[in-house]
Amino acid sequence: MIQKEGCRMDMTIRSRRLRSTPVLRKMVRETRMDASSLIYPLFVREGENVKEEIPSMPGQFRYSLDRMPEVLNEMADAGVTSVMLFGIPDIKDECGTGAWSEYGIIQKALRKAKKEVPDLYYITDVCMCEYTSHGHCGILSGERVDNDKTLPMIAKIALSQAQAGADMVAPSDMMDGRVSEIRSLLDQHGYTDVPIMSYAAKYASAFYGPFRDAAGSAPSFGDRKSYQMDYHNRLEALKEVKQDCEEGADIIMVKPALSYLDIVRDVRNTVDLPVAAYSVSGEYAMIKAAAMKGWIDEDQMICETAAGIYRAGCDILLTYFAKEIAAFMREGR
Ligand code: PBG
Ligand code: ZN
Repeated sequence: MIQKEGCRMDMTIRSRRLRSTPVLRKMVRETRMDASSLIYPLFVREGENVKEEIPSMPGQFRYSLDRMPEVLNEMADAGVTSVMLFGIPDIKDECGTGAWSEYGIIQKALRKAKKEVPDLYYITDVCMCEYTSHGHCGILSGERVDNDKTLPMIAKIALSQAQAGADMVAPSDMMDGRVSEIRSLLDQHGYTDVPIMSYAAKYASAFYGPFRDAAGSAPSFGDRKSYQMDYHNRLEALKEVKQDCEEGADIIMVKPALSYLDIVRDVRNTVDLPVAAYSVSGEYAMIKAAAMKGWIDEDQMICETAAGIYRAGCDILLTYFAKEIAAFMREGR
């Protein structure tokens, strides 16, 4: 008991006691992170000898296939065990045929990556927006993205990726029923062990801006609000997630991450599957831009935001900072 400004206060409990040294602080940490939970998103494109920086994502590059092994090896050396591949084709059309062609950019990338850097785990984004001339995530009927016409295409893309060697497929199109459509086509062709990581709660977000620059996948008219989720909603995320679980998803993703930490927590508390969070391009760009201005400490911001996303309950983190975070994790930061 000590005297403090006239009133007697019980000071038996002192939270600061466990904060007194670095060793002790680490000993009592509640959130422990490890590099095996990181996935690095990577852009591959046609062409030769290309490593071009993405203007709105400083430090991130588009690679042609001959240069791709450089970055794959960089990741492997940094202790990042998995990458998510995004393809940038040369030619686009109404139906996004480049997305499922045997000689599509992703299919070629997979065959090369699996051969040259076989120790990494390869996940592919399943969507049409990088491959359609209109930039929408599916087949159009008039100006509307037609759910039921799109479903077989999405499944076909996933199958072609599995045939080219994808270890896991990750549909991001937000059509209703895509998980079961993909699962049944994969199973019919013997890919019963290729898991599906579903972008289950994917919001229509301004945070995808830099990605769309990077992939040239911005819609040529309208927006994605008729298929991606309204960011005012929370229960709807649980509904989407529940449906994807019932359709056979193996991993559930929430996207974006930083503005959706409540959703990450809700999903973690609700489902019995691994939960992934995607810290998207706009989250990366914000940190980079402020750091380049000298307004924030980049390394500390990377650590603090990543810890926040894990603390919200994700098991897996997709992030453009994967290499940096892997190094910080090893240092125990
Ligand atoms: C494709 C897709 C997008 C992202 C991942 N997959 C863009 C979009 O939906 O417009 C965004 C990733 C990022 O911003 O880092 N549908
Ligand atoms: Zn898309």
